[in-house]
Amino acid sequence: MGNKKFLLNVKDIQDNSAKGISLDGEYYLVIKLGGKIYVYEDRCSHQDMPISENYEIEGEKIICMWHGAEFDIKTGKNVSMPAPAPIKKLPIEIDQNGDVFLIS
Ligand code: FES
Repeated sequence: MGNKKFLLNVKDIQDNSAKGISLDGEYYLVIKLGGKIYVYEDRCSHQDMPISENYEIEGEKIICMWHGAEFDIKTGKNVSMPAPAPIKKLPIEIDQNGDVFLIS
């Protein structure tokens, strides 16, 4: 069985927004879109900047406003330059209380 790390409750983030969470020296990008939670490493694939500190959400894309790279919120896939690669999606589990855990 893997490890579970508590990140936040689904109520701690507004819909159609993102939030940065620092935990055990790692930085996570949590996005809530249409009531669903997605978690990524909070590091843009362009220049490693924290997306949670400078972003916009447009439809199903999150835009890293440091230089304009766009990513698909559901998959992390890079959908515009200057992002050379996807952002890394992380596995999560949500319990019946709405607590979101990272699974490793
Ligand atoms: S660091 Fe995200 S677009 Fe450059």
